[in-house]
Parts: sequence; structure tokens; C-alpha cells
Amino acid sequence: MKNLLIVANWKENKNQKEALDFLSEFSKVFRPRQDVKVVICPQYLVVPTISEFVKSNNLQVELGVQDVSKFSGGAHTGEISAGEAREFVKFSIIGHSERRAQGETDEDVQEKVEMAVKNGIEPIVCVVNENILVPQETKIVAYEPVEAIGTGNPDTPENAERVASEIKSKNNQVRNVLYGGSVTSQNVRSFTETQNIDGVLVGGASLDPLEFAQIIEQC
Ligand code: PGA
Repeated sequence: MKNLLIVANWKENKNQKEALDFLSEFSKVFRPRQDVKVVICPQYLVVPTISEFVKSNNLQVELGVQDVSKFSGGAHTGEISAGEAREFVKFSIIGHSERRAQGETDEDVQEKVEMAVKNGIEPIVCVVNENILVPQETKIVAYEPVEAIGTGNPDTPENAERVASEIKSKNNQVRNVLYGGSVTSQNVRSFTETQNIDGVLVGGASLDPLEFAQIIEQC
């Protein structure tokens, strides 16, 4: 049996009240599994609140951020460093296609990954296909074809498996490849039952506590 990683990417959603409402619903229905690690990546402002909730309720989830600065700190208005984020989180999504569309380059991704690793944060590097550069320090890659993100049209499990296997053979250091793009509780298993896909990165469907708990149950 393989160990799976199920990552929620909340993107620019949920204020403090909405995040707490999610957690109180989710904690009622979530059944932790030995073989599944769950990571929630909210927007920065609610990270401390969620971290507090997770600790005081002993909720079996890890936290992540959706990006880290490529700088270590200082005069960079609007940035949050990996050193600051590590107080609360163990993971960071890096290089999501929605950030690359805003101008983030392979070089930025490389610097951010280095910064994350230096600070003990595990990067989850997003790529849109098997030809995108994966920084040397990366152990977790999320394959997310742009046309599958938020469209309700996921990639086929066969193609996703092919890409996952190519990513692993091109990048020896990569341990886990996740699939992302319109994952739901209905289709998650078709991806996680393949040989080389080790979990999923979930956007829209992770915003609903019942649906997200179902994804964990069905994977
Ligand atoms: P989606 O987003 O699940 O809403 O398609 C996935 C992602 O962008 O990480």
C-alpha cells in the first residue's frame, strides 16, 4: 500500500470566520488514515488561527502556504519569507501556474525552493507538464495541466500516470508526484490507484469540508 498526500489549495478564499467554520465542520467528519497525510494551504492571514485550531483540537492535518518569498527577509514590501512561514507550516506550494501567469519564472521557482528547503519547509513544486524544470532540492511535484484547473475537465488518469512516471524518471530526487486539476471525491481514486501518482492537489473541491473529507475517504 502506498502512502498518499492530499493537499488542499484554498487559493484566495476564506476569511478567518469562514476558515474556522470549515475546520469545525471538517473535524466532525474527517477520519484520519495511517496511509494518508493531509495538508491544508490557506491564505497567509488565517494560517496562525488555523495552526492554533489544529493544535488545540489535535486535528491530524499539516499546514502549508501557497508561496514563499525568494528573499530571506528585509526590504521587500508584501513578501513573506520561508523563515517567517516556518513558525506555522511544514509545506509550501511553489510555482503554481496561477503565479507563473503573473510572471513567476523557473529561476524564481528555483530560488523559492532553495529558500524553503533551507528553512525546513517542504516545497510542493507545480508543473504543467513533464518538461518544466524541477529544482534539484524538490521531493514533491504536483502535475497540474492548466486546462484541467478549475474547469471540471480533469486530465485522464492514463495521461496523468504517464506524466508522473516521466517526471520521476527525469528527476531522480523526486519521491512523490501529485495530480491536480478538477479533482473531486468522484474521480480521486482513478488517479491515486495508478502506479506513479502519490496523491492530489485539490483546489475548488477542498473548500467544502464534507467534499474534502470525502476525497480523503475515497482516495
Ligand atoms: P482545482 O484547482 O482543483 O480547482 O482544479 C487545483 C489547483 O489549481 O491547485
